[in-house]
Amino acid sequence: MLSIFRRRFSLYANTFAKSIEEPEEFWKEAAQGIAWDKPFSKVLCSSRAPIYKWFPDGKLNMCYNCLDRHVLAGDGKNWGIIYDSPMTNRVMHYTYEELLEEVQKLAGAMAFKHNVKVGDRVVIYMPLVPEAIIAMLACARIGAIHSVVFGGFSAKELANRIVDSKAKLIITANAGLEPNKIIPFEPIVNEATALAEARLPGAEHIQRIVLNRHLNVKFKLQPNRDHDFYEELMNSRPFTSVISVSSSHPLYILYTSGTTGAPKGVVRDTGGYAVALDNAMKWVYGIDKGDVFWAASDIGWVVGHTCIVYGPLLKGATSVLYEGKPVGTPDAGAWWRVIQQHEVKSLFVAPTGVRAIKKEDPLGKLMRRYNLDTLKHFGVAGERCDPDTVNWLQEHLPKNTLINDHWWQTESGWPMIGNFMGLDRFDTKPGSATKPAPGWDMHIIKDDLTEAAPDEHGKICAKLPTPPGFMLSLWESDEAFVKKYMSEIPGYYLSGDEGYKDQDGYFNIMGRIDDVINIAGHRFSTGAYEECICFHPNVAECAVIGVYDDIKGEIPVAFVVPKTGSEISEADLTHQIIKKIREDIGAVASLKTCIIVKRLPKTRSGKIPRVLLRKIANGETYAAPATLENLDVLDEMKVALEEHGYPRKDLKPKV
Ligand code: COA
Ligand code: AMP
Repeated sequence: MLSIFRRRFSLYANTFAKSIEEPEEFWKEAAQGIAWDKPFSKVLCSSRAPIYKWFPDGKLNMCYNCLDRHVLAGDGKNWGIIYDSPMTNRVMHYTYEELLEEVQKLAGAMAFKHNVKVGDRVVIYMPLVPEAIIAMLACARIGAIHSVVFGGFSAKELANRIVDSKAKLIITANAGLEPNKIIPFEPIVNEATALAEARLPGAEHIQRIVLNRHLNVKFKLQPNRDHDFYEELMNSRPFTSVISVSSSHPLYILYTSGTTGAPKGVVRDTGGYAVALDNAMKWVYGIDKGDVFWAASDIGWVVGHTCIVYGPLLKGATSVLYEGKPVGTPDAGAWWRVIQQHEVKSLFVAPTGVRAIKKEDPLGKLMRRYNLDTLKHFGVAGERCDPDTVNWLQEHLPKNTLINDHWWQTESGWPMIGNFMGLDRFDTKPGSATKPAPGWDMHIIKDDLTEAAPDEHGKICAKLPTPPGFMLSLWESDEAFVKKYMSEIPGYYLSGDEGYKDQDGYFNIMGRIDDVINIAGHRFSTGAYEECICFHPNVAECAVIGVYDDIKGEIPVAFVVPKTGSEISEADLTHQIIKKIREDIGAVASLKTCIIVKRLPKTRSGKIPRVLLRKIANGETYAAPATLENLDVLDEMKVALEEHGYPRKDLKPKV
């Protein structure tokens, strides 16, 4: 028994040690699961460090690796995607063969009709439907770079991404669906295109392929611009070959929130990402060919890219695409129904979803109606998972299901810290994300740049070189990439999160150190909210912070200082600001509370101490910084917060 334990234990330890001590040898072996059109002769190119290129002279095609090779291997009849949409009451199965056929047709329309070439950018603004995945893979097939924009973002956010990426083509749909409401896309996409035309020379030539989901929603196709998705497929010459691209050719740009209002275009390579995912799907999620994996996320986030599309399809697994919510579609038993119906082996969800279910079904009665025997892995990530939520899962899920709080980011592309179905299953410690994944040399670094002792807090950093799959750079901005992530702590990638490592080497991720807030597992920059709010003619200045929320983890609260002499009522100002945030960012930004104040605290250098405001709002202990100019304003903030119910008495402080 002991020897079995030792052997099992050594699987993680040996794999991890080799990945750190001999990274090139390690990743060379790890890359064998990928079909290379031209084998690489070099594993890592560090000549432009900290911008690293993995497998630099290798060539491959991601779509080929996700579809063609499985079909050629005789697995074409296996299901690639199961589309389960309680929103439309439909379940549809797509085999690998069917996916390949559709992808070839769309790729043909893009390449032959719309002249989309290698390296051209294609923006995909779609709801959670199989055609969105087909669009992503069609781009990959012809070497076009896709940039998927979350379907809940506003026209302005969509326009920002079209302009920044200089897109040539937009693939979209007539409508998205939210519980009890249909979201027509035509006004959003038309406004975004018009905004792009005003800012981007040549944008008037952008073509749009529009999926008609019917749903009684019109999208009037504009002549010489718009094309019906299925007509394009029907009339196209299929693109049966694939374009071989170099390993570091960008597969996609995915915009994410940083410290300032403008989103950052995280660029992902092709070869490094393919190798990383081919291994990570097994290490972390225990996924192999034929297994059913379900990530209850959206293709607009990195989780969707990695866990709905590329990860499962690279493995030849079946990916469940769920167009529904954890609650309300139709009830808090929906997840358990999906697991039973599709025999899901491994699951990824955001803790927010679990908290929403826990609130509606605290005793897990709905869960017990379903047979969850197939479920071996229950992964939570995207935001911190509070220990209460992990405890609740442990109490109710089958005893053999691993609850895996694992940590990663848009930048990393795949889990950096987690538990390992395919290596060793460590004991779950509620509140902790467990251990670093192979390839990730994680450290906790203090402000004085020294390493933190066990249990001591600091910035969570990865020692360079970063492993395959990590972002290549920021889109057209290597300088900003180096400055933002690689400069503050020489030799390390700064993740933007803080936390500690305990005596057993378990990492605990406690939150962001920058002005990023995480709402329901979605990442937003306080700067983006503030830019919108400050546009209001009656606003002098403002500060947005994230405060605890029992379901969404965090929600935004805005402190707003009206201009002297402005006559607008507090109620009207609040109403207009909330409306503007919904219009400019999207309803998903979830701003519900504006606190109108006379002034804001400031440091002597004029900075607003948002972290301090957050601590006050959350009822945490704080020390006013010596650099604070107007100490008495803190009392005003406390009173204003109390009037709005903060700190929340019903919430436990974060542990
Ligand atoms: N398209 C358009 N609108 C969207 C949208 C989308 N894809 N997603 C969300 N919205 C809208 C909602 O309709 C809602 O609008 P409203 O204010 O007019 O009602 C608003 O954005 C906020 O939505 P949401 O954050 O989903 O909150 P909710 O209160 O409606 O639902 C939960 C609460 C817990 C059910 C929901 O937040 C949830 O499912 N969270 C899990 C998120 C997740 O999977 N994250 C993983 C990222 S890796
Ligand atoms: P995104 O890039 O949108 O995926 O958001 C990444 C951010 O989400 C991280 O930087 C963390 O702040 C947070 N996050 C993701 N997973 C976890 C986790 N398991 N625990 C704590 N925070 C997490």
